[in-house]
Amino acid sequence: MHRVPPGDYAGTSPHWLREPVDVDALVPVLWSSTARKDDDGVLHVGGLAIPDLVADVNTPAYVLDEDDFRSRARAFRDGFAGYDVYYAGKAFLCTAVARWVAEEGLCLDVCSDGELTVALRAGTDPARIGYHGNNKTAMELRRAVDAGVGRIIVDSFHEIERVADVARQLGVRQSVMVRVTAGVEAHTHEFIATAHEDQKFGFSISSGDAFEAASRVVAHDSLELRGLHSHIGSQIFDTSGWEVAARRVLALHARIGAELGTVLPELDLGGGFGIAYTTQDDPADPALLAEQITKIVTGECAALGLDVPHLSIEPGRAIVGPAMCTVYTVGTVKQVALDGGATRTYVSVDGGMSDNIRPALYDADYSCTLASRASSTEPVLARVVGKHCESGDIVVKDEFLPGDIAPGDLVAVPGTGAYGRSMASNYNHALRPPVVAVKDGAARVVVRRETVDDLLATDIG
Ligand code: LLP
Repeated sequence: MHRVPPGDYAGTSPHWLREPVDVDALVPVLWSSTARKDDDGVLHVGGLAIPDLVADVNTPAYVLDEDDFRSRARAFRDGFAGYDVYYAGKAFLCTAVARWVAEEGLCLDVCSDGELTVALRAGTDPARIGYHGNNKTAMELRRAVDAGVGRIIVDSFHEIERVADVARQLGVRQSVMVRVTAGVEAHTHEFIATAHEDQKFGFSISSGDAFEAASRVVAHDSLELRGLHSHIGSQIFDTSGWEVAARRVLALHARIGAELGTVLPELDLGGGFGIAYTTQDDPADPALLAEQITKIVTGECAALGLDVPHLSIEPGRAIVGPAMCTVYTVGTVKQVALDGGATRTYVSVDGGMSDNIRPALYDADYSCTLASRASSTEPVLARVVGKHCESGDIVVKDEFLPGDIAPGDLVAVPGTGAYGRSMASNYNHALRPPVVAVKDGAARVVVRRETVDDLLATDIG
């Protein structure tokens, strides 16, 4: 294997990106558990060769590794034993996934009527559904209460009255949780703890609104306050943010018990568990996270003289993110000269920001691999871009790919399961790609590719 002369990419590639010893090799932590390459460099997922799979379904396509999804779901269920684990459907939801979630013993978090509809269609027990959102409409609330959802997470004073009214009209006592903002904002390894909570979600603990919200819920006969809910952020690796949040939330939990005489039976700590998109990320095992979080909560409860409430969490990304990869076909390859004499190889593929908005929206890093063959050409620093009319339409900002990458090659991007298809758009009238579930050598399209007729169906002329 040749090596790129050192210094060639100085200043043009990010500090964390290492030139691979073998550009064909997969970095296992980035891929679903059944992903492997054969001796010809062909990527296989779920026992299927990716070129054979896309010969049937075309590209771009999301490939969903069912065994991997299920085993990550089980790892949270078993790691967080004694908790209720709500899979956050906003990360990715379709009927098949909602069924897998139920079969693996998880509950489901939805945040819109659309997500609720998919869940109910999949046969999810409504009692195991939690309903989020900062502005649920009256129609959404009526449908949710009528369907018998297990809990509604209330997010505003207006909504408390709305849910109470709907429940009264329907003659039920609706379980609710109060979404609180603990003044902790966490992102990867860092978190910020402040007294101010300048964001749209939840009731502020520090301002007293969260206590007031609990008081108002308790005052309604048609509502049953089950507990507090706190979600501090996303793509978090370090439990110190949860520690600060748990301390603040449990102090409120104790105050509600003391001043309102209501001992809350539950507490939800939200989602946000990080995954590896590139070699920069080092996610912890769910069992280890569980151990640390449980220790934080039990320690704090002991200090406050509280019984430990029944705990729940809401992982989305950490279950579905690594379970999916996106497969694209290379259309064009272009060498672009950079300042300092280096060259960047621009590889254009047949999708882009319409199937993964995260690089454009969050500056998110991804990685990729040549999926259809091996190569002995020395690696080049490449940028994989989409086909949309926007220069920020980047799929993978920086990756080493074989120097002979060419039109017709397949490129696969791992870790696209969370917030990929679920945030996909029809930008430039792109047709959103299918989701193909693979398992034991068989493929099943669980979300089909959109068609031009789908696009035209909403354009009534
Ligand atoms: N629970 C609540 C209340 C949430 O708001 C979220 C995510 C989750 C659970 C699940 O978080 P997860 O475990 O998936 O990180 N579109 C962004 C992420 C937005 C997350 C919104 N809420 C992204 O692509 O990074």
